[in-house]
Amino acid sequence: MVCLGNICRSPLAEGILKHKAAQAGLEWYIDSAGTNGYHVGEAPHPLSQKVARLHGVEISKQRARKFVTEDFQRFDKIYAMAEDVVEEMQRIARGKFAEEKTELLMNELNPGKNEEVPDPWYGPEPGYHIVYEMIEKACDKIIEKYTLKNTQD
Ligand code: 4NP
Repeated sequence: MVCLGNICRSPLAEGILKHKAAQAGLEWYIDSAGTNGYHVGEAPHPLSQKVARLHGVEISKQRARKFVTEDFQRFDKIYAMAEDVVEEMQRIARGKFAEEKTELLMNELNPGKNEEVPDPWYGPEPGYHIVYEMIEKACDKIIEKYTLKNTQD
């Protein structure tokens, strides 16, 4: 799960998908990162923590890290929160950008719509609730997709 700072959106996405994967009995390795290094080592934004906790999701122990080229080898699927994040991932990866692994998160919910998870960083608390709801719906779709796939195998 990748955003710009790895303190607002992608920590929520990591926490929500981890929570839902555990509930579904899926043994996935899930992580998040940011394309800029401004907040490396920091805990998620207090409002991301607060909104997550209201939903029973604990993200306070996460620490921000920067997205690196090797993430394209380490992970099977990489979800970006917005187009500017994808552009930054391309810049970081140079020739090693794995397009087939990269997707806008909201395209899981509405394929091809290229909807973005808005950056709540500059705004007040309601923005974090909107972001939470959007990410949760997309994560529900991801879980549904992989659990259905398993039962059909
Ligand atoms: P995020 O929000 O990408 O959802 O973590 C941001 C947090 C910090 C900055 C940008 C976006 N920043 O430039 O410091």
